[in-house]
Amino acid sequence: MKLEIEGLEFEPFIAADEIAKRVRVMGAQLNIDYAHTRPVIIGVLNGSFMFIADLIKQITIPCEVTFTKLASYYGGLSSTQKIREDIDISVNIEGRDIILVEDIVETGNTLNYLIEKLQVRKPASIAICSLLSKPAAHDERPAELKYIGFEIGNDYVVGYGLDYQELGRNLKEIYRKV
Ligand code: IMP
Repeated sequence: MKLEIEGLEFEPFIAADEIAKRVRVMGAQLNIDYAHTRPVIIGVLNGSFMFIADLIKQITIPCEVTFTKLASYYGGLSSTQKIREDIDISVNIEGRDIILVEDIVETGNTLNYLIEKLQVRKPASIAICSLLSKPAAHDERPAELKYIGFEIGNDYVVGYGLDYQELGRNLKEIYRKV
C-alpha cells in the first residue's frame, strides 16, 4: 500500500522478508570472512540502526560493536557535500579489522570522509557493509565497499531505518518515492 510522508508519495519496494533473507546471507558471509579475527563493527548512525541490529544477530564470531554519527542530508532529498559529525568513535582501532555498517551509499562522500578519518588511526583493514547502494549516483565508488545488500536505481527510499525529513525510519519494509 502506498503511503504519504510530508507531502511525498511512496510505494512498497523491498519487503521485510526479502530484507531479512538478504541480511542473513550477509551475516553468514561476514562470519566466514572474519572467522580469523575479532572485528570492530562500526554502525554509522542514524540510518543504519535497524540494519545493524538485525545484522549483528546473524554474527556468531566474537566481535565488538560501536557507533559513529554523521549527517549529510539535513532533511532534503539529495545528499550535500557538507558532512556533520555528531558522535566520534570511542574505541582504539589501531591494528583492528573494521566493518563499517551503512544504510545506503549514494555519492559515496560520507564514506570517503569517514574512511579518510579512520585511516589516520591505522586500522589493519576497513570494509564497508551497506544495506543499499545507488551505483549510478556514486562520484567515486569507495574501494572498501565490499558487502552490498541491494543495488538500487536513483530512487529516494525510506523505511527500515531510512528517513525522509526524519520520518519513516520505523517502517519494517523499504518504500520508494513514486
Ligand atoms: P552519500 O554521502 O551521498 O553517499 O550519502 C549517504 C547518506 O545520505 C546515507 O547515509 C543516508 O543517510 C543519506 N541517503 C542517501 N540516499 C538516501 C535515500 O534514498 N533515502 C534516505 N537517505 C538517503
